[in-house]
Amino acid sequence: MRVSVVGLGYVGLVTAASLAEWGNQVVGIEASEARLSALRDGRMPIFEPGLDEVVQRNRESGRLQFAGPDAMSRAVHRADIVMVAVGTHDGHGGWQTDTISSTLDALVPMLGAGTTLVVRSTLPPEYVASLASYVEARAGENSGPVPTILNPEFMREGSALHDFMQPDRVVIGLVSDETGLGQRALAELYAPSSAPMVVLPALDASVGKLAANLFLATKISFANELAGICDSYGATIDNVVASMTYDKRIGTGFLRPGVGFGGSCLPHQVAMTLLDAQSREVHAPLLAAVKQINEFQPRRVLLALNRMLSGLHDARVALLGLTFKPDTDDLREAPSLRIAQHLLDAGARVVAYDPMPAARSSAVEQVPGLDVAESPMAAMRDAHAVVLATEWSVFRELDWLAAANIVRNPLMVDGRGALDAAAMTEAGWTYHAFGRGTHQPVTRSESVMVNVQNASAAIAHAEGALDGGHTR
Ligand code: UDX
Repeated sequence: MRVSVVGLGYVGLVTAASLAEWGNQVVGIEASEARLSALRDGRMPIFEPGLDEVVQRNRESGRLQFAGPDAMSRAVHRADIVMVAVGTHDGHGGWQTDTISSTLDALVPMLGAGTTLVVRSTLPPEYVASLASYVEARAGENSGPVPTILNPEFMREGSALHDFMQPDRVVIGLVSDETGLGQRALAELYAPSSAPMVVLPALDASVGKLAANLFLATKISFANELAGICDSYGATIDNVVASMTYDKRIGTGFLRPGVGFGGSCLPHQVAMTLLDAQSREVHAPLLAAVKQINEFQPRRVLLALNRMLSGLHDARVALLGLTFKPDTDDLREAPSLRIAQHLLDAGARVVAYDPMPAARSSAVEQVPGLDVAESPMAAMRDAHAVVLATEWSVFRELDWLAAANIVRNPLMVDGRGALDAAAMTEAGWTYHAFGRGTHQPVTRSESVMVNVQNASAAIAHAEGALDGGHTR
């Protein structure tokens, strides 16, 4: 099929590349000169694992092209489907629909007969209610009624290509599609995914998209509250959650406690839905609690540090991880930035490391007084305590025995439960994680005992094998 994708951000670029990968002829339209020239030079404006290979492969095959707004008319007129994936956040935690409105103002009059308009941007529900009339009022005289469909995305940063290609479901929200042309077009477009297609009225599709994120956020805040309960009993949350998720009604995933959920979606959609509810006099105490728990999680890091250190003033704290989650370069609503700010406000010195250079430089701009280092070990040198805020795999692979010898105090607050408590205490660390309590280091004599026991067990096993006449 011939598809134009308008807006090449986190959602639009992954969508354009994936549709080309499926064999469609795709033109990506991007208004930002900088982003467009980066794409034309083969540079990805966002970090998403595997995206550069998919983009390059499809550009070389000619299935994927990039163009500016001046090419919009040519790109959309012959298209079977035109997808809009422009941003709807105002950058301050609110909705803004100016971008999508101006995009539709320019786009809709250009649409030819037989072209389906698809909106992939996450929209405030009240905007969806007016979308049919908005499009109809702008349709060109020769296009007739424009089949208009909502197609919300459920892609996680860091696994966006997978989530697009293998979705759990494809949601189709019918804004207006009297002839059924729009539904047929999207059924053909998503056929390679073999996922169930859920066809709904547009408003239900829009609220359903928000509801999915609100529930994921609720699961995370539930896990964070449960972690405090586990700690009060001395229970281990990993075991508690593992036993819960055998119940299919509970489901697995999104029950890991930590420093809180960040990113461009969950925090924003919880906050905006809560604001909408309050303005409509809808009682939403659960959402309020989800937000409040999430906003308090970074402070729990300081509470843990205060228990481990005699005060934070003049303490040097190493902060491992800045991005809101691993395998992305995105700092939007990253809890690490709140942790850094709280530590600086408490008079500590903070030295951070993140594998993404762009994240390091952006964090320094966003948090005045924050220092960054070029390696985890450099960040931890002479530190009075270490905080892990993002579970990058590089932190699991670190030599924590060596790290214990370069910090001033081997004290770890593992804000993502990413490390193994036993291994950390074996390496000489005092280790704390939400829902796992605080573990004291295994003293040298204890660890010598453990090694002696292991060695004698190995000798006994070897002797047994020899006695048995068989050699290993
Ligand atoms: C989210 C939704 O998952 C996705 O469906 C939607 O389309 C966009 O928003 P994203 O924000 O990219 O995706 O990442 P996600 O994996 O959902 O993580 C969001 C935040 O929650 C991260 O900060 C992550 O660290 C945190 N998280 C996730 C937890 O704290 N605990 C968990 O168990 C899972």
